[in-house]
Amino acid sequence: MSTPPGGTATQYALFAACAPGLEALLQEEVAELGLVGAATPGGVELRTDARGLWELCWRARLAESVRVRLKPFVARDFETLVQGLTRLPWRAYLRSGSVAAVHVVARRSRLWHSDAVAERVSRVLRERAGVETAARGGAGTKIHVRLQNDRVQVSVDASGERLHRRGYRTHVAEASLRETLAAALVRVARREAPEADVLWDPFCGAGTIALEWLELLAGVAAGARRRFAFEDWPTHDAEHYRLWTAQQQVLEASVPVAEAERPLAFGSDVSGKALRAAQANARAAGLEARCRWIQGDFESAAQEIPEGAVVISNPPYGVRVRQSRELLARLSRLLLRRPDLRPVVLLLPANGLLERRSSLPFEARFRTSNGGLAVAVEVSSGARR
Ligand SMILES: C[S@@+](CC[C@H](N)C(=O)[O-])C[C@H]1O[C@@H](n2cnc3c(N)ncnc32)[C@H](O)[C@@H]1O
Repeated sequence: MSTPPGGTATQYALFAACAPGLEALLQEEVAELGLVGAATPGGVELRTDARGLWELCWRARLAESVRVRLKPFVARDFETLVQGLTRLPWRAYLRSGSVAAVHVVARRSRLWHSDAVAERVSRVLRERAGVETAARGGAGTKIHVRLQNDRVQVSVDASGERLHRRGYRTHVAEASLRETLAAALVRVARREAPEADVLWDPFCGAGTIALEWLELLAGVAAGARRRFAFEDWPTHDAEHYRLWTAQQQVLEASVPVAEAERPLAFGSDVSGKALRAAQANARAAGLEARCRWIQGDFESAAQEIPEGAVVISNPPYGVRVRQSRELLARLSRLLLRRPDLRPVVLLLPANGLLERRSSLPFEARFRTSNGGLAVAVEVSSGARR
Protein backbone atom coordinates (compact mmCIF):
# COMPACT_ATOMS: atom_id res chain seq x y z
CA MET A 1 0.00 0.00 0.00
CA SER A 2 1.70 3.26 -1.04
CA THR A 3 -0.35 5.31 1.39
CA PRO A 4 -0.65 3.33 4.60
CA PRO A 5 -3.26 5.03 6.75
CA GLY A 6 -2.66 6.98 9.91
CA GLY A 7 0.27 7.86 12.17
CA THR A 8 2.68 10.75 11.85
CA ALA A 9 5.15 8.51 9.98
CA THR A 10 2.64 7.81 7.21
CA GLN A 11 3.93 8.92 3.83
CA TYR A 12 1.32 10.44 1.55
CA ALA A 13 1.55 10.78 -2.20
CA LEU A 14 0.02 14.22 -2.69
CA PHE A 15 -1.07 16.33 -5.61
CA ALA A 16 -1.41 20.07 -5.02
CA ALA A 17 -3.44 21.61 -7.83
CA CYS A 18 -3.01 25.20 -9.04
CA ALA A 19 -4.22 27.36 -11.91
CA PRO A 20 -2.63 26.30 -15.22
CA GLY A 21 0.60 28.19 -15.84
CA LEU A 22 1.42 28.67 -12.16
CA GLU A 23 2.99 25.23 -11.58
CA ALA A 24 6.59 26.51 -11.38
CA LEU A 25 5.57 29.22 -8.90
CA LEU A 26 3.74 26.68 -6.74
CA GLN A 27 6.75 24.36 -6.89
CA GLU A 28 8.91 27.24 -5.63
CA GLU A 29 6.45 27.87 -2.80
CA VAL A 30 6.37 24.16 -1.89
CA ALA A 31 10.20 24.13 -1.81
CA GLU A 32 10.17 27.09 0.60
CA LEU A 33 8.04 24.98 2.93
CA GLY A 34 10.89 22.46 2.98
CA LEU A 35 9.01 19.99 0.77
CA VAL A 36 10.30 18.50 -2.47
CA GLY A 37 7.76 18.59 -5.26
CA ALA A 38 7.78 18.00 -9.00
CA ALA A 39 5.84 20.39 -11.21
CA THR A 40 3.46 18.65 -13.56
CA PRO A 41 0.63 20.08 -15.70
CA GLY A 42 -1.99 21.49 -13.32
CA GLY A 43 0.02 21.29 -10.12
CA VAL A 44 2.82 19.78 -8.07
CA GLU A 45 3.33 16.15 -7.02
CA LEU A 46 5.09 15.37 -3.77
CA ARG A 47 5.53 12.75 -1.08
CA THR A 48 5.41 13.81 2.51
CA ASP A 49 4.15 12.90 5.98
CA ALA A 50 1.14 14.26 7.90
CA ARG A 51 3.06 17.35 8.99
CA GLY A 52 4.00 18.09 5.39
CA LEU A 53 0.33 17.79 4.45
CA TRP A 54 -0.71 20.17 7.25
CA GLU A 55 2.05 22.60 6.30
CA LEU A 56 1.01 22.52 2.65
CA CYS A 57 -2.69 23.10 3.38
CA TRP A 58 -1.90 25.86 5.87
CA ARG A 59 0.83 27.74 4.10
CA ALA A 60 0.70 27.27 0.33
CA ARG A 61 -0.92 30.44 -1.02
CA LEU A 62 -1.02 29.32 -4.65
CA ALA A 63 -2.53 25.84 -4.29
CA GLU A 64 -6.22 25.54 -5.15
CA SER A 65 -6.62 22.09 -3.57
CA VAL A 66 -4.60 19.17 -2.20
CA ARG A 67 -5.49 15.52 -2.66
CA VAL A 68 -3.98 12.20 -1.59
CA ARG A 69 -3.24 9.76 -4.35
CA LEU A 70 -3.91 6.14 -3.44
CA LYS A 71 -1.91 3.29 -4.93
CA PRO A 72 -2.66 3.11 -8.67
CA PHE A 73 -3.55 -0.17 -10.37
CA VAL A 74 -4.29 -1.45 -13.86
CA ALA A 75 -7.84 -2.52 -14.81
CA ARG A 76 -9.01 -3.55 -18.26
CA ASP A 77 -12.33 -5.03 -17.12
CA PHE A 78 -14.88 -4.31 -14.41
CA GLU A 79 -13.95 -7.35 -12.34
CA THR A 80 -10.33 -6.19 -11.98
CA LEU A 81 -11.54 -2.64 -11.36
CA VAL A 82 -13.72 -3.80 -8.45
CA GLN A 83 -10.87 -5.94 -7.05
CA GLY A 84 -8.47 -2.98 -7.21
CA LEU A 85 -10.99 -0.61 -5.65
CA THR A 86 -11.74 -3.10 -2.87
CA ARG A 87 -8.06 -3.13 -1.84
CA LEU A 88 -7.85 0.64 -1.35
CA PRO A 89 -7.69 1.95 2.26
CA TRP A 90 -11.03 3.80 2.16
CA ARG A 91 -11.57 3.63 5.91
CA ALA A 92 -8.44 5.71 6.49
CA TYR A 93 -10.09 8.69 4.79
CA LEU A 94 -13.84 8.25 5.00
CA ARG A 95 -16.10 7.74 7.98
CA SER A 96 -18.91 5.27 7.86
CA GLY A 97 -22.17 7.16 7.34
CA SER A 98 -20.46 10.02 5.46
CA VAL A 99 -21.12 11.03 1.85
CA ALA A 100 -18.66 11.02 -1.06
CA ALA A 101 -18.82 12.93 -4.34
CA VAL A 102 -17.27 10.74 -7.05
CA HIS A 103 -15.74 12.28 -10.20
CA VAL A 104 -14.52 9.95 -12.94
CA VAL A 105 -12.41 10.83 -15.98
CA ALA A 106 -11.53 8.05 -18.45
CA ARG A 107 -9.02 8.54 -21.26
CA ARG A 108 -7.61 6.01 -23.72
CA SER A 109 -8.79 3.13 -21.53
CA ARG A 110 -10.78 -0.01 -22.17
CA LEU A 111 -13.10 1.05 -19.33
CA TRP A 112 -14.18 4.24 -21.05
CA HIS A 113 -17.71 4.57 -19.68
CA SER A 114 -17.26 6.96 -16.76
CA ASP A 115 -20.79 6.47 -15.34
CA ALA A 116 -20.30 2.70 -15.25
CA VAL A 117 -16.95 3.18 -13.47
CA ALA A 118 -18.56 5.63 -11.00
CA GLU A 119 -21.27 3.07 -10.27
CA ARG A 120 -18.58 0.46 -9.31
CA VAL A 121 -16.79 3.00 -7.11
CA SER A 122 -20.06 3.85 -5.33
CA ARG A 123 -20.81 0.18 -4.76
CA VAL A 124 -17.35 -0.50 -3.28
CA LEU A 125 -17.63 2.62 -1.09
CA ARG A 126 -20.97 1.48 0.27
CA GLU A 127 -19.91 -2.13 0.86
CA ARG A 128 -16.35 -1.52 2.15
CA ALA A 129 -16.72 1.74 4.07
CA GLY A 130 -20.44 2.34 4.67
CA VAL A 131 -20.18 5.54 2.59
CA GLU A 132 -23.01 6.75 0.38
CA THR A 133 -22.42 8.63 -2.88
CA ALA A 134 -23.95 12.05 -3.54
CA ALA A 135 -26.04 12.59 -6.66
CA ARG A 136 -24.12 14.28 -9.50
CA GLY A 137 -23.07 17.77 -8.44
CA GLY A 138 -23.93 17.03 -4.78
CA ALA A 139 -21.74 17.76 -1.76
CA GLY A 140 -19.46 15.20 -0.13
CA THR A 141 -15.79 14.22 0.25
CA LYS A 142 -14.40 14.45 -3.27
CA ILE A 143 -13.08 11.21 -4.72
CA HIS A 144 -11.32 11.63 -8.06
CA VAL A 145 -10.95 8.56 -10.26
CA ARG A 146 -8.78 8.90 -13.33
CA LEU A 147 -8.32 6.14 -15.88
CA GLN A 148 -5.51 6.75 -18.33
CA ASN A 149 -4.22 3.98 -20.59
CA ASP A 150 -6.01 1.45 -18.30
CA ARG A 151 -4.19 2.72 -15.21
CA VAL A 152 -6.58 3.65 -12.43
CA GLN A 153 -5.59 6.48 -10.10
CA VAL A 154 -7.94 7.18 -7.21
CA SER A 155 -7.38 10.34 -5.15
CA VAL A 156 -9.15 11.60 -2.04
CA ASP A 157 -9.56 15.29 -1.32
CA ALA A 158 -7.46 16.44 1.65
CA SER A 159 -8.09 20.19 1.67
CA GLY A 160 -11.90 20.48 1.51
CA GLU A 161 -13.38 23.81 0.47
CA ARG A 162 -11.22 25.45 -2.24
CA LEU A 163 -8.01 26.79 -0.73
CA HIS A 164 -8.45 30.29 -2.12
CA ARG A 165 -11.11 30.67 0.56
CA ARG A 166 -8.86 31.95 3.32
CA GLY A 167 -11.70 33.12 5.52
CA TYR A 168 -10.90 36.85 5.49
CA ARG A 169 -12.78 37.80 2.35
CA THR A 170 -16.22 38.41 3.69
CA HIS A 171 -16.96 40.94 0.92
CA VAL A 172 -16.23 40.92 -2.80
CA ALA A 173 -16.17 43.75 -5.33
CA GLU A 174 -16.97 43.55 -9.02
CA ALA A 175 -14.46 41.26 -10.74
CA SER A 176 -12.66 40.39 -7.51
CA LEU A 177 -9.51 38.40 -8.03
CA ARG A 178 -9.11 34.89 -6.63
CA GLU A 179 -6.84 35.06 -3.58
CA THR A 180 -4.56 32.37 -5.07
CA LEU A 181 -4.00 34.44 -8.20
CA ALA A 182 -3.43 37.59 -6.13
CA ALA A 183 -0.84 35.58 -4.16
CA ALA A 184 0.89 34.61 -7.42
CA LEU A 185 1.22 38.31 -8.37
CA VAL A 186 2.59 39.08 -4.92
CA ARG A 187 5.12 36.24 -5.22
CA VAL A 188 6.34 37.56 -8.58
CA ALA A 189 6.78 41.07 -7.11
CA ARG A 190 8.61 39.74 -4.03
CA ARG A 191 11.05 37.93 -6.32
CA GLU A 192 11.79 41.25 -8.05
CA ALA A 193 12.08 43.30 -4.87
CA PRO A 194 12.55 41.06 -1.83
CA GLU A 195 13.39 44.02 0.41
CA ALA A 196 10.29 46.11 -0.43
CA ASP A 197 7.58 46.34 2.20
CA VAL A 198 5.10 48.91 0.83
CA LEU A 199 2.56 48.05 -1.85
CA TRP A 200 0.16 50.12 -3.92
CA ASP A 201 -2.73 48.55 -5.79
CA PRO A 202 -4.12 51.43 -7.90
CA PHE A 203 -7.32 49.48 -8.77
CA CYS A 204 -7.76 47.63 -5.51
CA GLY A 205 -11.43 46.55 -5.60
CA ALA A 206 -12.07 44.43 -2.48
CA GLY A 207 -8.39 44.66 -1.51
CA THR A 208 -7.41 41.07 -2.28
CA ILE A 209 -3.88 41.88 -3.49
CA ALA A 210 -3.23 44.18 -0.53
CA LEU A 211 -4.33 41.54 1.96
CA GLU A 212 -2.29 38.78 0.29
CA TRP A 213 0.71 41.13 0.40
CA LEU A 214 0.27 41.90 4.09
CA GLU A 215 -0.36 38.32 5.09
CA LEU A 216 2.78 37.19 3.28
CA LEU A 217 4.84 39.95 4.88
CA ALA A 218 3.42 39.20 8.31
CA GLY A 219 3.95 35.45 7.91
CA VAL A 220 0.24 34.77 8.43
CA ALA A 221 -0.63 31.30 7.16
CA ALA A 222 -3.19 31.28 4.34
CA GLY A 223 -5.17 28.54 6.07
CA ALA A 224 -4.91 29.66 9.67
CA ARG A 225 -8.61 30.54 9.92
CA ARG A 226 -10.18 27.52 8.28
CA ARG A 227 -10.81 23.80 8.44
CA PHE A 228 -9.54 21.15 6.08
CA ALA A 229 -11.04 17.85 4.89
CA PHE A 230 -8.18 15.87 6.47
CA GLU A 231 -9.46 16.92 9.92
CA ASP A 232 -12.41 14.57 9.34
CA TRP A 233 -10.32 11.54 8.35
CA PRO A 234 -10.67 8.68 10.83
CA THR A 235 -6.85 8.46 10.88
CA HIS A 236 -6.32 12.18 11.55
CA ASP A 237 -4.12 12.72 14.60
CA ALA A 238 -6.23 15.47 16.17
CA GLU A 239 -4.12 15.83 19.31
CA HIS A 240 -0.84 16.38 17.43
CA TYR A 241 -2.59 18.68 15.00
CA ARG A 242 -3.94 20.81 17.85
CA LEU A 243 -0.43 21.16 19.31
CA TRP A 244 1.05 21.90 15.91
CA THR A 245 -1.51 24.59 15.11
CA ALA A 246 -0.93 26.21 18.52
CA GLN A 247 2.81 26.29 17.69
CA GLN A 248 2.11 27.93 14.32
CA GLN A 249 0.07 30.64 16.02
CA VAL A 250 2.95 31.41 18.39
CA LEU A 251 5.32 31.64 15.42
CA GLU A 252 2.98 34.07 13.67
CA ALA A 253 2.55 36.27 16.69
CA SER A 254 6.34 36.78 16.74
CA VAL A 255 6.58 38.30 13.24
CA PRO A 256 7.39 42.03 13.69
CA VAL A 257 5.76 43.29 10.47
CA ALA A 258 2.35 42.96 12.08
CA GLU A 259 3.46 45.63 14.55
CA ALA A 260 4.82 48.15 12.02
CA GLU A 261 3.24 51.50 12.66
CA ARG A 262 2.93 52.84 9.14
CA PRO A 263 0.57 51.50 6.47
CA LEU A 264 2.25 48.88 4.31
CA ALA A 265 -0.54 48.44 1.77
CA PHE A 266 -2.18 51.29 -0.15
CA GLY A 267 -5.25 50.61 -2.21
CA SER A 268 -7.13 53.07 -4.37
CA ASP A 269 -10.38 52.70 -6.26
CA VAL A 270 -13.00 54.99 -7.73
CA SER A 271 -15.74 52.90 -6.19
CA GLY A 272 -16.74 53.65 -2.60
CA LYS A 273 -18.56 50.31 -2.48
CA ALA A 274 -15.39 48.43 -3.44
CA LEU A 275 -13.41 50.28 -0.76
CA ARG A 276 -16.01 49.46 1.89
CA ALA A 277 -15.58 45.80 0.92
CA ALA A 278 -11.78 46.21 1.15
CA GLN A 279 -12.11 47.78 4.59
CA ALA A 280 -14.39 45.00 5.85
CA ASN A 281 -11.98 42.36 4.53
CA ALA A 282 -8.97 44.07 6.14
CA ARG A 283 -10.88 44.13 9.42
CA ALA A 284 -11.73 40.43 9.11
CA ALA A 285 -8.03 39.73 8.51
CA GLY A 286 -7.03 41.84 11.52
CA LEU A 287 -4.87 43.99 9.22
CA GLU A 288 -6.82 47.23 8.97
CA ALA A 289 -4.12 49.23 10.79
CA ARG A 290 -1.63 48.29 8.07
CA CYS A 291 -3.90 49.43 5.19
CA ARG A 292 -4.68 52.80 3.72
CA TRP A 293 -7.66 52.96 1.35
CA ILE A 294 -7.96 55.99 -0.93
CA GLN A 295 -11.13 56.70 -2.86
CA GLY A 296 -10.60 58.30 -6.26
CA ASP A 297 -8.92 58.01 -9.62
CA PHE A 298 -5.51 56.31 -9.38
CA GLU A 299 -3.74 59.42 -10.72
CA SER A 300 -4.81 61.58 -7.81
CA ALA A 301 -4.28 58.70 -5.34
CA ALA A 302 -0.66 58.43 -6.57
CA GLN A 303 0.20 61.65 -4.76
CA GLU A 304 -0.26 59.85 -1.46
CA ILE A 305 1.85 56.83 -2.34
CA PRO A 306 5.23 56.82 -0.59
CA GLU A 307 8.43 56.62 -2.60
CA GLY A 308 9.59 53.12 -3.48
CA ALA A 309 6.24 51.32 -3.25
CA VAL A 310 5.76 48.20 -5.33
CA VAL A 311 2.77 48.33 -7.72
CA ILE A 312 0.66 45.18 -8.10
CA SER A 313 -2.76 45.29 -9.72
CA ASN A 314 -5.33 43.81 -12.02
CA PRO A 315 -6.64 46.86 -13.86
CA PRO A 316 -10.20 46.83 -15.14
CA TYR A 317 -10.55 45.20 -18.54
CA GLY A 318 -13.35 43.64 -20.43
CA VAL A 319 -16.34 45.14 -22.09
CA ARG A 320 -15.03 48.59 -22.94
CA VAL A 321 -11.70 47.80 -24.55
CA ARG A 322 -11.04 51.37 -25.66
CA GLN A 323 -11.52 52.73 -22.17
CA SER A 324 -9.25 50.04 -20.73
CA ARG A 325 -6.56 50.93 -23.26
CA GLU A 326 -6.73 54.60 -22.36
CA LEU A 327 -6.59 53.78 -18.68
CA LEU A 328 -3.50 51.64 -19.13
CA ALA A 329 -1.82 54.31 -21.27
CA ARG A 330 -2.54 56.82 -18.49
CA LEU A 331 -1.15 54.41 -15.86
CA SER A 332 1.96 53.85 -17.90
CA ARG A 333 2.55 57.64 -18.26
CA LEU A 334 2.13 58.04 -14.50
CA LEU A 335 4.64 55.25 -13.86
CA LEU A 336 7.14 56.89 -16.22
CA ARG A 337 6.85 60.04 -14.10
CA ARG A 338 7.27 57.94 -10.94
CA PRO A 339 10.25 55.63 -11.63
CA ASP A 340 10.51 54.99 -7.90
CA LEU A 341 7.31 52.87 -8.07
CA ARG A 342 8.91 49.59 -9.17
CA PRO A 343 8.52 46.78 -9.87
CA VAL A 344 5.11 46.97 -11.52
CA VAL A 345 3.24 43.67 -11.72
CA LEU A 346 -0.03 43.69 -13.67
CA LEU A 347 -2.50 40.99 -14.56
CA LEU A 348 -3.65 41.72 -18.12
CA PRO A 349 -5.48 39.88 -20.88
CA ALA A 350 -3.04 37.67 -22.77
CA ASN A 351 -4.35 38.82 -26.15
CA GLY A 352 -1.85 41.68 -26.35
CA LEU A 353 -4.60 44.27 -26.63
CA LEU A 354 -3.50 46.20 -23.60
CA GLU A 355 0.18 45.42 -23.28
CA ARG A 356 1.04 47.18 -26.49
CA ARG A 357 -0.40 50.45 -25.21
CA SER A 358 2.32 50.91 -22.67
CA SER A 359 5.48 52.92 -23.20
CA LEU A 360 6.93 51.14 -20.16
CA PRO A 361 8.79 47.94 -21.04
CA PHE A 362 6.74 44.97 -19.81
CA GLU A 363 7.66 41.32 -19.93
CA ALA A 364 5.07 38.53 -19.70
CA ARG A 365 6.25 36.15 -16.96
CA PHE A 366 3.34 33.73 -16.69
CA ARG A 367 0.21 32.95 -18.56
CA THR A 368 -2.80 31.60 -16.77
CA SER A 369 -6.54 32.08 -16.74
CA ASN A 370 -8.81 34.30 -14.68
CA GLY A 371 -12.51 33.57 -14.75
CA GLY A 372 -12.09 31.73 -18.06
CA LEU A 373 -10.11 34.56 -19.69
CA ALA A 374 -6.49 33.96 -20.78
CA VAL A 375 -4.35 36.40 -18.83
CA ALA A 376 -0.65 37.17 -18.46
CA VAL A 377 1.34 38.35 -15.48
CA GLU A 378 3.25 41.33 -16.89
CA VAL A 379 6.27 42.72 -15.07
CA SER A 380 8.10 46.00 -15.53
CA SER A 381 11.20 45.89 -13.36
CA GLY A 382 12.72 49.26 -14.16
CA ALA A 383 15.47 50.78 -12.11
CA ARG A 384 14.70 51.36 -8.46
CA ARG A 385 16.27 54.46 -7.02
C1 LIG B 1 -10.66 44.20 -11.87
S1 LIG B 1 -11.20 45.21 -10.58
C2 LIG B 1 -10.02 44.91 -9.32
C3 LIG B 1 -10.43 43.78 -8.45
C4 LIG B 1 -9.55 43.60 -7.23
N1 LIG B 1 -8.22 43.13 -7.58
C5 LIG B 1 -10.22 42.66 -6.25
O1 LIG B 1 -9.67 41.59 -5.96
O2 LIG B 1 -11.32 42.94 -5.78
C6 LIG B 1 -10.79 46.80 -11.13
C7 LIG B 1 -11.17 47.93 -10.19
O3 LIG B 1 -10.70 49.15 -10.77
C8 LIG B 1 -11.56 50.20 -10.34
N2 LIG B 1 -11.33 51.38 -11.23
C9 LIG B 1 -11.80 51.57 -12.49
N3 LIG B 1 -11.31 52.74 -12.98
C10 LIG B 1 -10.52 53.28 -12.02
C11 LIG B 1 -9.71 54.46 -11.92
N4 LIG B 1 -9.66 55.32 -12.93
N5 LIG B 1 -9.01 54.67 -10.79
C12 LIG B 1 -9.08 53.81 -9.76
N6 LIG B 1 -9.84 52.68 -9.78
C13 LIG B 1 -10.53 52.41 -10.89
C14 LIG B 1 -12.94 49.57 -10.40
O4 LIG B 1 -13.85 50.24 -9.55
C15 LIG B 1 -12.65 48.11 -9.95
O5 LIG B 1 -12.94 47.96 -8.57
